[in-house]
Parts: sequence; structure tokens; C-alpha cells
Amino acid sequence: MKRVGILTSGGDCQGLNAAIRGVCRALYESYDEYELEIYGIIDGYKGLINGECRLMRVDEFSGILTQGGTILGTSRQPFKQIRDIDEDGINKIEEMKRTYKKLKLDCLVVLGGNGSQKTANLLSEEGLNIVSLPKTIDNDLWGTDITFGFQSAVDIATNVIDCIHTTAMSHSRIFIVELMGHKAGWLTLHAGIASGADIILIPEIPYKLDDVVRDLEKRNKQGKNYSILAVAEGAIPKEYAKLPKKERKEAMENMNHPTISYKLADDLQKSMGQEVRVAVPGHFQRGGSPCPYDRVLATRFGTEAARLIRKENYGRMVSMKDGEIKSVSLKGIAGKLKLVPTDSSIIECARDIGIGFGD
Ligand code: F6P
Repeated sequence: MKRVGILTSGGDCQGLNAAIRGVCRALYESYDEYELEIYGIIDGYKGLINGECRLMRVDEFSGILTQGGTILGTSRQPFKQIRDIDEDGINKIEEMKRTYKKLKLDCLVVLGGNGSQKTANLLSEEGLNIVSLPKTIDNDLWGTDITFGFQSAVDIATNVIDCIHTTAMSHSRIFIVELMGHKAGWLTLHAGIASGADIILIPEIPYKLDDVVRDLEKRNKQGKNYSILAVAEGAIPKEYAKLPKKERKEAMENMNHPTISYKLADDLQKSMGQEVRVAVPGHFQRGGSPCPYDRVLATRFGTEAARLIRKENYGRMVSMKDGEIKSVSLKGIAGKLKLVPTDSSIIECARDIGIGFGD
């Protein structure tokens, strides 16, 4: 009997169900139904801690390819607090190990982003058999060129900016579209290029207000009556970026604006006297059906995860490298962020067509 647990952890994204389906259908193809038990762990690591799980039926993995969200539910269990004993005296790591043993699992499959991969690695170091899959709209996981969820979010964000274009043009306004990504600017960069944004501000390239104004005024002089800025939620002004971490955090908290985009809008309005509006699509970017690219990617990741389980090759995250599906050791990738390299060819390409980065 092969017993496999599966959970989805952290912020959801498109393609989670497609990936769950990929793993489980490939497992059912390899083992007879009576030789395989798949346990769905409810709401991520929380379910593993509390022992909330259920034996899944084979038909539950059908008809979910195109469904957004996750049939297993998810939650955030910050890695920073995973070793802390909580107020009820619960040792989360021991409880997770207990659930794993109680279910007599041969392996636990984790679908997660950065924090979830760190916990997956910790559990692997604690002796559990883990196989993980890289999910996040942020595309910021080390060890893989792409994560599922990213392309679907790019599609939505691009569509938002496309729509903003027409209204910005009608009203001769400057529009700031704030996109998700606190630390990494991949989503903003791709959606910005895809939608013809004029300025792209990402966390990896701190911006200077004067440089943003310079680029916007250049457009005005060229007779262009509107401008679009694609701004990552983690974009940061140069003067804040220079500060030590603690002071930077304080400066961001004390800026008297709900997000950086509203501060930038205020600063631009004051310096240019032109109308500025902010649009924040927020969790829209993580919602709805996965795009076809993500359906294929999640399915490929899922079947590779099943292959690793069959070979009992544990402690690994499936990944995409140079167009090929592979796997990398969890130890080697856990805790490492994949940021946009500021000298990458995609940044160069954007600069080549006149997109400004506020520097
Ligand atoms: O899952 C990644 C992400 O969507 C980030 O892009 C975003 O900053 C964050 O999650 C939002 O988190 P929450 O859903 O907890 O508000």
C-alpha cells in the first residue's frame, strides 16, 4: 500500500487544482486503486498540525483542471514562527510529524511558495519524505525558471492595464496600476511590457521621483496626453532603499498612504500638476481559471512529482530549467529568493523600447 498526503500552502494561485490533479492522476495510473491511498490535508500546514485530513476519492481529481483556488483549502503558517510553541503548548513540528506517522504516509506532497518550501525542507530534515511543487504568482522561487500561477496572473494584470489605457487616454491622465509582488518584480515587469506601460517600478530597482517626472514630462513634450505606470506593491523610493532595514520599515509605515502607489500619485500630482489615479487589482490577480500555459505547466510539474514518488526520490522540488522539467534538492533552494536581475536581458529589452524604471 502506498500512502501519499497532499497539501496546498500559502497564498493560493491559479493552477493549484491542475497540479493536484496531475500528481494524483499520474499516481493512479501507476498504482492499482486498492494499492494507493491519497490523503488530502486541509488548509495547508494548519491541517497537518491539527490532524485535519481526509482520504480522497479518485473521482475528486476529475473536473478540476480549469478550477481556480484549491480544493484542499490553504492557509499561511509563517516559517518564522513554525518552531515556536504556541499559546496552547503545541509544538507545530512535532504535531506535523505525528499526523504524518498516524496516517502512515510514505510521502507528503507540498504545493507552495517560498515560506512553504522552507517548511517543506525543515520537515524533510526532520525525516519526512517530501516532494514539493513550486507555486506562486510572484515567480520568485529559486531553482525554477517559472512557477505555476505566474502566467495566469500576468494575463490578468495585462488585461487590467489594457483596460486602463483607454480611460487614461480619454481623460489625459497619469495612471498608476499597482500589481502584486512585495519583493520580486517579475509580475509587474512582464505585465508592464505586455501591456505597453510607459514606466515600470519594481522592488529590485529603487526609483527616484525626479527621474519618473523626467520621463513623464518627456512624454508630455512628445504630445502624448496620458501615461501608464506599472508599479509593484514592493516598489521603493531610492531615499528609503538607502536606509537600514529597521528605519526603512518605519519610513514605509509612516508615509501616511495606504500603499507606495498612493504616495507616488501624491508626489507626482504635486510635482506635475497633472491628474493621477491609482488602480489596484489586488487579489483579482490570483483568482479565476488558470491560463492554458499554467494548466500544462502544473500538469507537467504534477506528473514529475508522481515520478519522484514512484522512484522514492524525496527531499526534492520539481522545477523547470531551460524548458525541461527537472527537480532540485529542497535543501539547495529553501530560503533563496529569485529576484529580477537588474542587468537581465528582459530589463535591457524594456529599456531599449524606452520604458523607464525611475532611475
Ligand atoms: O502569494 C503571493 C502574494 O499574492 C503576493 O504577491 C502578495 O504580496 C501576497 O501574496 C498577498 O498576500 P495575502 O493573500 O495574504 O493578502
